[in-house]
Amino acid sequence: MNTQSIHDIFTGSYLLQEIVLHGWVRTFRANRFIALNDGSTLENIQCVVDFEQTEEDLLKRVTTGAALRIQGTLVKSQGKGQKYEVQVSNIEVLGDSNPELYPIQPKKHSFEFLRENAHLRVRTSTFSAVMRVRSALSFAVHKYFREEGFYYVHTPIITGSDAEGAGEMFRVSALDPKNPPQNKDGEVDFSQDFFGKETNLTVSGQLEAETYAMGLGKVYTFGPTFRAENSNTSRHLAEFWMIEPEVAFFNLDQNMDLAEDFIKHVLRYVMEHCKNDLDFLDQRLANEEKTKPQLERRSMGLLEQINFILDNQFIRLSYTEAFEILRNSKPNKKKKFKYPIDAWGVDLQSEHERYLVEKHFKCPVILFDYPASIKAFYMRLNDDGKTVRAMDVLFPGIGEIVGGAQREERLEVLKKRIADMQIDAEELDWYMDLRRFGTAPHAGFGLGFERLVQFATGMSNIRDVIPFPRTPQNASF
Ligand code: 4AD
Ligand code: MG
Repeated sequence: MNTQSIHDIFTGSYLLQEIVLHGWVRTFRANRFIALNDGSTLENIQCVVDFEQTEEDLLKRVTTGAALRIQGTLVKSQGKGQKYEVQVSNIEVLGDSNPELYPIQPKKHSFEFLRENAHLRVRTSTFSAVMRVRSALSFAVHKYFREEGFYYVHTPIITGSDAEGAGEMFRVSALDPKNPPQNKDGEVDFSQDFFGKETNLTVSGQLEAETYAMGLGKVYTFGPTFRAENSNTSRHLAEFWMIEPEVAFFNLDQNMDLAEDFIKHVLRYVMEHCKNDLDFLDQRLANEEKTKPQLERRSMGLLEQINFILDNQFIRLSYTEAFEILRNSKPNKKKKFKYPIDAWGVDLQSEHERYLVEKHFKCPVILFDYPASIKAFYMRLNDDGKTVRAMDVLFPGIGEIVGGAQREERLEVLKKRIADMQIDAEELDWYMDLRRFGTAPHAGFGLGFERLVQFATGMSNIRDVIPFPRTPQNASF
């Protein structure tokens, strides 16, 4: 006999048929009703046990968390709350779960507690819903780019170059940390290391993706990236996944169009394919919001906010325009910003980004043409000599979700930027070859996948949208 997933059963036509199910017990009440979940869908299926016909010893083993194989007949449910239920003819306990010790009890657990039990938290409704949405979003990413004619490239995880020039990297080394070889200046001699040089985990696949764009035309990467920045916030991870499209013969306006279309597309996909999970997460968020003081509540519910993004054009404005709005804003004048907006050229912090998006425009915003001094070396210098063709997409509740740019395709300008920023030019010689041989305008961006999952699921902490979060002082599991 074939086994069916609970998802199959709720969507197929199995009425009055013999079925076999596998899953974990969520609850067992009145020695009669097992709520079984197998992860294929949010819903549990109710399995009704004839306790007079079932051994008492077996029933004692049906506890929350236990793994079961259940055989029975699918019938229309007598009770309220579900359409179908299973009249159980046979139960097999595949794995017991001691109710005294199993941490995931059928009650509300705090997210902090569940983070400590991240290996078991996917057995809760909230985390299984989040992870199904995450899976659907990543499928939608590949689907979108495939349909748009992009090629998927795998850029390296171990690299010798610092793509962002921010120096926030995790070193990869096979040297003995207790006794590393030293050069004559007393420094660690990385020429004796595994790769014969200093290497790190990548902070971005962009530079290598650029090389492929300059041969395949339209490419994207989607892989893990690593940053050793000591940011203990609800939006930063030390290991996160980034989606980075890169397109030859593209300018910044086309890049902005791509980012907006792409984000809307993948959000629309999950709205269409994850309805139950999103409805559940919408309700969860609404309940959470009720516990907050009125002033701190979100202005929109989860589904409302996703629909709002789908239905509205993102507002586009330059850094300089945004700077003026922020400088003249109430919180700036009343000194409410932690980082005051006083002189043109200051970097924008999350508090400023969120003010623009949530208070001023009440709409996603794409900022472009940032001061060169606060952006990476590879961004194309504008004719004013002081701004670069950068773009950041800012989202409500999240702040920056996308960072990108039109790239500097002129060799001499690029060389000068690299020199001005005191970056090792030798390490980037291969990158400059792209400007030596058949250079062309090109552009791309990086979208932080977990920030997108946060937005789509309404989870306020980024640690709760990735299976095993890596953050400062935390790499459990
Ligand atoms: O703005 P970033 O640093 O841009 C780049 O790395 C470019 N090389 C991308 C490109 O043009 N190909 O990072 C891109 C995005 C951010 O907008 C943010 O969404 C996310 O990556 N991000 C993080 N997400 C989680 N934790 C962190 N520590 C993140 N740092 C960046
Ligand atoms: Mg950025």
